[in-house]
Amino acid sequence: MPFQILPVSINDRSTIANIVIRSSINDPFASSVYPTFTTEDRIETCKARFPKTLVSENSWHLKVADETGEIISYSRWVLPTELWQTLRAESVVEEVSAEDKERYEKEFQAVISGDDWPIGINKEMVLPMEEKMEVARKKFPTEPSILLNGLNTLPNHQRRGAATTMLKWGTELADKNKLKIRLEATPSGFPLYKAHGFEPVETVVHHLKEFGGPEEYTHVLMVRDPVA
Ligand SMILES: CC(C)(COP(=O)(O)OP(=O)(O)OC[C@H]1O[C@@H](n2cnc3c(N)ncnc32)[C@H](O)[C@@H]1OP(=O)(O)O)[C@@H](O)C(=O)NCCC(=O)NCCS
Repeated sequence: MPFQILPVSINDRSTIANIVIRSSINDPFASSVYPTFTTEDRIETCKARFPKTLVSENSWHLKVADETGEIISYSRWVLPTELWQTLRAESVVEEVSAEDKERYEKEFQAVISGDDWPIGINKEMVLPMEEKMEVARKKFPTEPSILLNGLNTLPNHQRRGAATTMLKWGTELADKNKLKIRLEATPSGFPLYKAHGFEPVETVVHHLKEFGGPEEYTHVLMVRDPVA
C-alpha cells in the first residue's frame, strides 16, 4: 500500500511532537534554539503547544502513514478562511468543546513565559531573526494565499516521498482554488520546494554564531503560483 494521507487529531499529539522535533535534529538552527533543553524536553513543550495550534482557525493538519501504518510525516497548512470552512464542511472534523479549548490554552500558557515567548527559547538569537523575517515577508503576495507552515518527516523515513505526498495534496488544492502557496524554506526543505514549482522571492541570511548558533543560516521565502 502506498503512503496514506490522514487527518490529525488530538490523540496524535505525542506522535506529531516527536516527528516535528526529531525531523530537525541535524538542523544547526533547530539544535541551538533551545540551548538548555534535551530533545525530550523539546518534544514535551512541543506537545504542550500542539493542541492550541491544532484547533486554531484556518489551520489544516495532515499526517502520512507508511505501508506499515507508522505515522512518519506531518504538515500544517494555513488556509484562507473561506477555503478552510469549505474543507471542514466536506470532511468529518471533530468539534472541540469550549472546555477542551480552555484546557489547551492553559497547557499552552504553561510553556510560555510572561513576555509571550516559549520558555527556554534562545530569545537573544531568535529576536533579530524574526525582525529580518518580518521585513522579508513584505515580499509575499498580498492577496489571500495558502501558507505551508510546517513540513516534517522522521529522519529514518526521509527521502521516501512522504513530504512529496503532502506537497502534492497542497499544490492540487491550490491549483483547484487558483491560490498561490507561500512558505519559508529551511535548507533541508529548499530543494524539495524548488522541485515542486516554488520560486524564491527573498533570501534571508542569519549570522548566529555570537548567540550559540551556526555561523550562517539561510531561510528562503518562496511562492508557488497556481497552475491552470
Ligand atoms: C524537508 C523534509 C520535510 C522532506 O521530507 P521527506 O519526506 O524526506 O521528503 P521526500 O522524501 O518527499 O523528498 C525528499 C527528497 O527525496 C527524494 N525522494 C522522494 N522519494 C524518493 C524515493 N522513493 N527514493 C529516493 N529519493 C526519493 C525527493 O526527490 C527529494 O529530493 P530533493 O530533496 O533532491 O528534491 C524533511 O527533510 C524534514 O523533515 N526536514 C527537517 C524539517 C524541515 O526543515 N522542514 C522544512 C520546513 S520549510
